[in-house]
Amino acid sequence: MKILVTGGCGYIGSHTCVELLEGGYEIVVVDNFSNSKPEVIDKIKEITKKDFKFYEGNVCDKTLMNKIFDEENIDAVIHFAGYKAVGESVKYPLMYYRNNIDSTLTLCEVMNSHNVKKLVFSSSATVYGKPKVLPIKEDFPLSTTNPYGSTKLMIEGILKDIYISDNSWSIAILRYFNPIGAHESGLIGENPNDIPNNLMPYIMKVATGKLECLSVFGNDYDTKDGTGVRDYIHVVDLSKGHLKAIEKIKDTTGIDYYNLGTGKGYSVLEIVDNFSKVNNVKINYKIAPRRPGDIDACYADPSYAKEQLGWTAEKGIEEMCRDSYRFVMKNK
Ligand code: UFG
Repeated sequence: MKILVTGGCGYIGSHTCVELLEGGYEIVVVDNFSNSKPEVIDKIKEITKKDFKFYEGNVCDKTLMNKIFDEENIDAVIHFAGYKAVGESVKYPLMYYRNNIDSTLTLCEVMNSHNVKKLVFSSSATVYGKPKVLPIKEDFPLSTTNPYGSTKLMIEGILKDIYISDNSWSIAILRYFNPIGAHESGLIGENPNDIPNNLMPYIMKVATGKLECLSVFGNDYDTKDGTGVRDYIHVVDLSKGHLKAIEKIKDTTGIDYYNLGTGKGYSVLEIVDNFSKVNNVKINYKIAPRRPGDIDACYADPSYAKEQLGWTAEKGIEEMCRDSYRFVMKNK
């Protein structure tokens, strides 16, 4: 089976490429390096000892997408390509709507005209907005608090309408919780150049001395220690979920939604504590005001993915912290 991976050089995309190649799939990758580096291609090949075809460019470029589908015999697509920074989306909403929506529309049009109707889409737990009850199930009400989240929710709606109009499509929508960690080789992982927005990349900048001190955004939330609670999931576990989704949509039609999380919530201070212990490194932190838009707690009920896809996250918080650190130390 040949899978087109859009955004295959990004953080989750690159780990999924590794799992796909190791699982015996043929892959074709398209990426414009807007938030990734060309070296990732060689790293994926080094880990898997396998080769694949790469196209550099934007998924919004219809000529390029037609060329890929004309040249390759694609059976299914995993669509990762998209902008993903919440704060940036608030500042540049038009850029987010244009890029994330346009790329999906272009991709689906080209898939449709080439009669490829199997799609796995990267969505996010952000579509649950501020959940009233925990853990979060797939049928909870949906809402968003920022343009990034709105693009994910709008795309979910677009894909639903495509399926309603043509029942021969098979679509799996994966709602990710908080991916952290890295491949155990230390060759691929997440290492933003700028000041990171997300917790684990920020902790790693402090651990490596690039930033002085972590600001813990609020300690007066309604949680075990007052700091925000999230469902952190190892990126390799998350990637494996995509293979299970491909297996599911391969011989079926329909559209369905799956939470990919562990079902366990950890607070910011618990993450700091685990990271320090596992890696034997001190993380300086200070309590800072709440970050606008943040919620108290967010964690998944992952039982539907287990039941329908036969998928469960296997790696614990220690492995996540160890693998994250190994990657940054190797790539300083
Ligand atoms: N946090 C800090 N200090 C930091 C960064 C984060 O205290 O410097 C805290 C946050 O307040 C929050 C927790 O760490 O309590 C996790 O924050 P992240 O920014 O790492 O992750 P979020 O849960 O805010 O958002 C992430 C992704 C979104 C996605 C969402 C889905 O960044 O893309 O999960 O729930 F939509």
